[in-house]
Amino acid sequence: MLETLRNEMLVCHKCSLGKARTNLVFGVGNPRATLMFVGEAPGRDEDLQGEPFVGRAGQLLTKIIEAIGLKRNDVYIANVLKCRPPGNRAPLPEEIVLCMPYLLKQIEIIQPKVLCALGTFAAQTLLSTKAPVGTLRGRFHDYKGIPIMVTFHPAYLLRNPNDKAKVWEDMKKVRDLLSELSGKDLKI
Ligand code: URA
Repeated sequence: MLETLRNEMLVCHKCSLGKARTNLVFGVGNPRATLMFVGEAPGRDEDLQGEPFVGRAGQLLTKIIEAIGLKRNDVYIANVLKCRPPGNRAPLPEEIVLCMPYLLKQIEIIQPKVLCALGTFAAQTLLSTKAPVGTLRGRFHDYKGIPIMVTFHPAYLLRNPNDKAKVWEDMKKVRDLLSELSGKDLKI
């Protein structure tokens, strides 16, 4: 159960990030979601509110979700790391290794029909690859039998708005696969 996992993570001190955080940023959304997004790690706003993707990048993610006809509450959103790295530095390889079992467990519990990796860290972690996001994005890969779309991270899009069209292309593929799987037409 997600609640049991959250309780386990509340007392996690496998790495030093647990001590420095304000809040655990477990994950948010529909526990029966068919679509699950995976980001990198909490930033300042997320650490303060205990919820993933609530800052500027999060607002953009919400728009991206709405652009394919869904609401934020319809999907599930989690990160590779559940505690904020100080100063928003990139996750360290050992932090990813230690935190990864929690993400895998979340995926196992939620059993989404489709996954979407946002940016390099999520894509490389879930696909066990060092390939850059630019070469991975735009198509479905396989994560333990679940199709996983790789796309750019919304924070990257805030810095590179010209790449928004590429994310839109990626999300249309996600929308089409979801409607194919559910037999329902998601409106845009
Ligand atoms: N960036 C992420 O990868 N995750 C968040 O929760 C917020 C910003």
